[in-house]
Amino acid sequence: MGNPINHDDKPTNLSGNPSLNDVVHQVLSRRKFLLKSGGSAAAVAFLSSGVARAAQVLSPVDLMGFRAIPIATDDALHVAPGYSAKPFVPWGTPMFSSGPGSQWKGDGSESAKDQARQVGDNHDGIHFFPLNNSSSEGILVMNHEYSTTVGEKDDQYLTLFGKSPTVASTIEQANKAINAWGCSVLHVRQTNGEWSLVKDSKYNRRMTSGSPMVLTGPAAGHELLKTKADPTGTRVLGTINNCGNGYTPWGTYLTCEENWNNNFGTRLSQADERTPAQKRYGLAKGATGYGWEAFHDRFDYKKEPNESNRFGWIVEIDPYNPEATPKKRTALGRFKHENAAYAISKDKRVVIYMGDDERFDYIYKFVSSGEYREGDRAHNMDLLDSGTLYVAKFSSKASLGSGMGDGQWVELSMNNPVIVKAGFRDLGDVLVHARLAADAVGATKMDRPEWITVHPVTQEVYATLTNNSKRKAGDEDAVNPRASNVYGQIVRWREQGGDAAALRFDWDLFALAGNPAVNAKGDLNAGSTNVNIDNMFNSPDGLGFDAAGRLWIQTDGNYSNSKAYAGMGNNQMLCADPKTKEIRRFLVGPRECEITGLTFTPDQRTLFINVQHPGERGNSHWPDGGDALPRSATVVITKDDGGIIGT
Ligand code: FEO
Ligand code: CA
Ligand code: CA
Repeated sequence: MGNPINHDDKPTNLSGNPSLNDVVHQVLSRRKFLLKSGGSAAAVAFLSSGVARAAQVLSPVDLMGFRAIPIATDDALHVAPGYSAKPFVPWGTPMFSSGPGSQWKGDGSESAKDQARQVGDNHDGIHFFPLNNSSSEGILVMNHEYSTTVGEKDDQYLTLFGKSPTVASTIEQANKAINAWGCSVLHVRQTNGEWSLVKDSKYNRRMTSGSPMVLTGPAAGHELLKTKADPTGTRVLGTINNCGNGYTPWGTYLTCEENWNNNFGTRLSQADERTPAQKRYGLAKGATGYGWEAFHDRFDYKKEPNESNRFGWIVEIDPYNPEATPKKRTALGRFKHENAAYAISKDKRVVIYMGDDERFDYIYKFVSSGEYREGDRAHNMDLLDSGTLYVAKFSSKASLGSGMGDGQWVELSMNNPVIVKAGFRDLGDVLVHARLAADAVGATKMDRPEWITVHPVTQEVYATLTNNSKRKAGDEDAVNPRASNVYGQIVRWREQGGDAAALRFDWDLFALAGNPAVNAKGDLNAGSTNVNIDNMFNSPDGLGFDAAGRLWIQTDGNYSNSKAYAGMGNNQMLCADPKTKEIRRFLVGPRECEITGLTFTPDQRTLFINVQHPGERGNSHWPDGGDALPRSATVVITKDDGGIIGT
């Protein structure tokens, strides 16, 4: 998210865990040895010259067929020549033809009840689920991360109530925000080349921050999850701050609860009564900007201390069954989830890769106990309820400047003596406090892990590390190699033996974003060799492969187009060839937006992405133009000749 006050990036990891640089210091002598012996010339040269270019020569095919576009700073969406991009289902789009919310009024005057039957705010993760394997009819599920707020206390909703920034000062207003967040499930259809929403479809529904959900898996029913309203510890109202997403091969959607901590504070005495765990997860000491705790006791941590433990999960939604209650899968651990990317292990277990988006937080993976059975949906539906959670430790071979190394996955369960010694009571405790468990085992502190994606053929895993301005000089390491990292990087890894369930991996940096126009050649801030003045960007965030293995990169960064960011323009979407490492700009968004979320129809001929918070500082009227309220929206991208996206 790109709020002026950036909720993603307040570091709360005060543990003494090593950053990779500590590991690096251990291996510097090895690096010196290699340098002297010339044994890893290619590795050491990664950041300054060779590997990318060498790989280009070896690449047998040119994956990308489109022409790159220049940056833009205007209030419009631009896409590569030969492609069309059309705004679709913006915030407030009616999902039903009668009853509350059946009209978009255009002035933000809809009620909470109306909003619950309209498309939500601030679109983010998205996935297309085909109906009857069709590429022209399906169910589009998307996240609505938050509503943009401004002001000194970050407490005025910028557009939710109309053109004047407004504090939620009534329960009706708080409830409108609650109903604008969550997920939308939309039946969509393409007729004569045009996509439209099928109003009144049985599939259409909203899951808001107040909709009934259940907690499942090892922590369900745990003491830590019981509240006054739910003594069973299994029933919860709502999903909050749904950022990126995942999907499963059995046709379900995974929505990821990210900055839910910003919805928990207190209006009681201003004494800071947060527990160490509540601090580690970043709950507000006093009043929150969103203000929900003023009207609903459950969001006040002093009134209902366990309610916040019921957020920070990955929630599985079955889009094909409108009656199915969303399930919060506690086996996957509780943190500030960015997205979820699946792979299948050699012995057919399901692996889910996950990032915790905060400065100095971690990368995790879950490996299911049960095996995935293709075509057996009933069997697969609860695979995410039992398995093992691991956290990544980038380790010994890593050396500063090489841009590569190895790593291991450390188990977070009562099977690990370090976890027992750290005082965790049981697996439920470990999962609810996954961040603290990861602290205890010495996981590697990363530069804000955002999206993760898995190559459709090789199962190589790619992750964006968006930026980390708080990394101090002397605290750099091989995978997070810059202090005051304002540009971000993309890391990728290969599991040992090509097995997604393996406990060791090798990694390398795929790209180091940077600005070669304002930083000297050789300076790490100029970026890796695949970054140049024609394709530069900052803060990679959204990330995903298409079926052919093109890597799509989306940004949520600084759009000032000045100083460190001069020549980068508005937020954008780029495409990369994983073999050659070439990166090409495909799309540029309107003013003050981020580009996030991506999904293709099975035939790869329609791409849906999201434009989130256009005009988050008040300077956009996209997509409606004139002096209209800016609205987050999906964008439908097709190739004018009907071809595959990216060719
Ligand atoms: Fe919601 Fe980390 O982006
Ligand atoms: Ca982000
Ligand atoms: Ca994001």
